[in-house]
Amino acid sequence: MNPGADEGADGPLVWDDRLDSGVLAIDLQHRVLFQLLQRVASIQPADSGTALDEVLAQLQTYADYHFRYEEAWMLRQQADATTHAQHLRLHSGFVERLSAMKLQLEQGRLTILDLERFLRRWLIGHILEQDMPIIRRVQAQAPAT
Ligand SMILES: [Fe+2]
Repeated sequence: MNPGADEGADGPLVWDDRLDSGVLAIDLQHRVLFQLLQRVASIQPADSGTALDEVLAQLQTYADYHFRYEEAWMLRQQADATTHAQHLRLHSGFVERLSAMKLQLEQGRLTILDLERFLRRWLIGHILEQDMPIIRRVQAQAPAT
């Protein structure tokens, strides 16, 4: 993050190195999700309907792929069963929120800002507070691949 930059909820959307775990595949996938968040933020209000619909569909597809990958990775690295089950629930919660937002969009009740704020908070919070502690624990036990 740029020192001195506004890091509040509406600050600049730049990748923060603290989001890098060192597990290449997971970091690359997180960056793709972050790019989709940046895409949401760049949508112009005039194109909001179609553009939001497209990016929501991409988010649903990519999040599904990423969550499956990350969950399988955690299993391979022998993350404990309780942690793994809790993590699956967090991922499902995100998928459910996206579906609810798609419904809101269809009903004309979703703004670009709603989606941007939700994604920004969820994605950054999830990576830093949920993914990273598990990855760090696994890495402390054995070098992750
Ligand atoms: Fe995760």
